[in-house]
Amino acid sequence: MTDNSLPNEIMDIEYESPSCPTNAAWARIPKEPSKSERTELIARVKQLLIEKDAVMVSHYYVHPDLQDLAIETGGCVSDSLEMARFGRDHKAKTLIVSGVKFMGETAKILSPEKTVIMPDLDANCSLDLGCPIDEFSAFCDQHSDRKVVVYANTSAAVKARTDWMVTSSCALEIVNHLKDQGEKILWAPDKHLGRYIQEKTGADMVFWEGSCIVHDEFKAVELIELKKQHPDAKVLVHPESPYDVISLADAVGSTSAILKAATEIDATTFIVATDKGMFHKLQQMNPEKTFIEAPTAGNSATCKSCASCPWMAMNGLANLAEALEKGLNKIKVDDSIRERAKLPIDRMLDFTAKLAEQRKSGIVPNIGAA
Ligand code: 13P
Ligand code: SF4
Repeated sequence: MTDNSLPNEIMDIEYESPSCPTNAAWARIPKEPSKSERTELIARVKQLLIEKDAVMVSHYYVHPDLQDLAIETGGCVSDSLEMARFGRDHKAKTLIVSGVKFMGETAKILSPEKTVIMPDLDANCSLDLGCPIDEFSAFCDQHSDRKVVVYANTSAAVKARTDWMVTSSCALEIVNHLKDQGEKILWAPDKHLGRYIQEKTGADMVFWEGSCIVHDEFKAVELIELKKQHPDAKVLVHPESPYDVISLADAVGSTSAILKAATEIDATTFIVATDKGMFHKLQQMNPEKTFIEAPTAGNSATCKSCASCPWMAMNGLANLAEALEKGLNKIKVDDSIRERAKLPIDRMLDFTAKLAEQRKSGIVPNIGAA
């Protein structure tokens, strides 16, 4: 069993480095509302969603309240690929994206006619922040013979300089497809995911040196020790984790793939290496199973991290209600960037839609499955 009291737990943590790039985000994490405030906020959001013709699109890492509210009001909780697809296909005039900035930008790029609102526009991502457009563009120029494949966790400007966008749920298949076409690949920005994909596909890839501050902290040495204490536990790992952690996994995949694996694998205990926001849905879908956090601390720790993304935790009920009520925090993407950035996203969505059709008819092997 796991504890879902995410924000208070996060706020109690002390950090070693006063210059840590996440300090500003930690300082902005909303306080947990009281019981009565929470009830009032939930009712207010429900009413506003109707009045504003809005739907919630939430990621698995955000506060459990924002996940449950999305489901209760006809929205979605999913991985980043499904968030993009759901937002694009939903008929609501307004999308409330609870997640991080690249998810809001992707929604706006796919649906420029819709208003896209986020509870906090400063909710970012270390992968996005670590891949500024000018340096990325220069890197692309140095490797102009390669197809440029970027992870969804990047800015709209980076996507506009890209051939393909991928998420962790389709990266393997897309890189494999490009390799089959004889293409060499420039991969950005997550080096761990890139290395995992390269090992699985054997593709010729060069890498941008980015990483996720959350997944980067999972520790193989301590994970081996934890496995000894739970010899029957299966290990589920998000591929943004370091290579030696991925090597210990029974299943590797996107947040949706982790959920699928936890539901389908015949085991009662799981050690999970991803943001702890994920435990809410894992436990909800599998009440009889036990989920244990993969270790981020111990002898080999470099930071007092806690497997919690500070930017995801910036999404709260109160800032969501205020943004929706007052029409604040609208995502804007410059038209010229938006039109160019849409191409690699559309390519990914078309590819994955075809893949899903083929899988239904049993034509292709499910190489990316957890
Ligand atoms: P998913 O696409 O697996 O949901 O991953 C998004 C993310 O930011 C993980 O850290
Ligand atoms: Fe970015 Fe990591 Fe947060 Fe995901 S968990 S949004 S990759 S910083």
